[in-house]
Amino acid sequence: MLDDMLDYTEQIRERPVWQPIPRHVREVFRKPLPRKPASLESVHATFLRDILPFAVGNAHPGFMGWVHGGGTPVGMLAEMLAAGLNANVGGRNQIPVEVERQVVRWVRELFHFPDTASGLFVTGTSMANLIAVLVARTAAAGVGVRRRGIADIGQRLVAYTSAGAHTCIAQAMDLAGLGSDALRIIPVNERHQIALGPLQERIAEDRSAGLRPFFVAATAGTVDTGAVDDLAAVGRIAEREKLWFHVDGAYGALAMLAPDIAPRLAGIERAASVAFDFHKWGQVPYDAGFVLVRYGEMHYQTFASPATYLRRESRGMAAGSPWPCDFGPDLSRGFRALKTWFTIQTYGAARLGAMISRTCALAQYLKESIEKEPALELLAPVALNIVCFRFRSERADEVNRNIVADLQESGLAAPSSTTVNGCLAIRAAIVNHRTNRSDIDALVRATLAFGSAYVERPSRTLRND
Ligand SMILES: Cc1ncc(COP(=O)(O)O)c(C=O)c1O
Repeated sequence: MLDDMLDYTEQIRERPVWQPIPRHVREVFRKPLPRKPASLESVHATFLRDILPFAVGNAHPGFMGWVHGGGTPVGMLAEMLAAGLNANVGGRNQIPVEVERQVVRWVRELFHFPDTASGLFVTGTSMANLIAVLVARTAAAGVGVRRRGIADIGQRLVAYTSAGAHTCIAQAMDLAGLGSDALRIIPVNERHQIALGPLQERIAEDRSAGLRPFFVAATAGTVDTGAVDDLAAVGRIAEREKLWFHVDGAYGALAMLAPDIAPRLAGIERAASVAFDFHKWGQVPYDAGFVLVRYGEMHYQTFASPATYLRRESRGMAAGSPWPCDFGPDLSRGFRALKTWFTIQTYGAARLGAMISRTCALAQYLKESIEKEPALELLAPVALNIVCFRFRSERADEVNRNIVADLQESGLAAPSSTTVNGCLAIRAAIVNHRTNRSDIDALVRATLAFGSAYVERPSRTLRND
């Protein structure tokens, strides 16, 4: 199995990025509960035949959809070790908890946070953003909100983010019981950053309507275009208005590792909390989300529970409080820290930073290739590693939606799509450390070929389903 997976990563270029899944393969996964055992060999053979070839392909250098990291063999091996230990890192007096604490200290150092800051591995940034909203809710309403609920606050808490923010922030407001309508969506400027004037005006309006502004989420690397909000300016507004200043840095925050890109994140060191994923730009295998909170005590007060079966002792296995389960909703937790610790140690922070810089340079190369090509059009500035563009056409939305599907089904390259200023965009996020210029050239070539086919044969079927 180990050989198979090492061969898979070594020979990944010879495979299509993705391929459509035949009906008979889906049928394999509709069988009833197996009552009798099967040999490990036969189960593994099914994996090789019916699972491995039909994954989404984010390990492939031609994968540029959404924001998916590529993973590394180092992370894969560490994950095997973690599974072998079968560590439950909810707490208890064990070194796996120390490994997580070590990563928390590294993250504090990277973001210039104080020693009193707390951190926690979670599934992904959606969960990290939710935790940040919940800690901010405690900061605004007091720890009693945990028992009495938000109805008891007597004043509506409202929050702010930009139109470019990820929808999981609205979902966090919903799950925190504050309601997604209480998240004010502030327009963006021409660089797709949160517009500061409208932000301040909306805060003032809400205050005069008797509402209570409590939270602002800036984004370091928006999901659509990779824009980075002016974090220092948002931080100053938050300070003046006494709002919790959160940064959603799902993939962008790790640009702190890259000395040439980190200055674009200036101001992040003033945040009250930062959410990000090691499984995106950090190349740690899924999943490895992380939340960093400046006010560790507030974070603890938001989640710690007095349950007797979780009682702490000064010695034995129940020693070593506080535990990770005191900082989030999960009691059972895998050893996500190990694959992250292995990745950071084996490659070193400098090399990871160089990889991040290189993906940004590749995005600039793609931007220049698009600008040289009259048939293509750039749709947004390239702030980090995401490039939004389209093939010029009178039926641009229809044609580009189909080009994206053609590219994905061809197995040559796999961008995703989004909407930028009302236009359907082909969106390439260069996240994978394996991607190089030849993959960018292949994307441009294939886009032109598929786009030209629609120009030459306008009757070619355009599918909208
Ligand atoms: C800016 C931003 N925030 C949040 C998320 C959600 O992160 P996750 O998928 O790890 O929950 C993403 C995902 O791409 C993102 O780009």
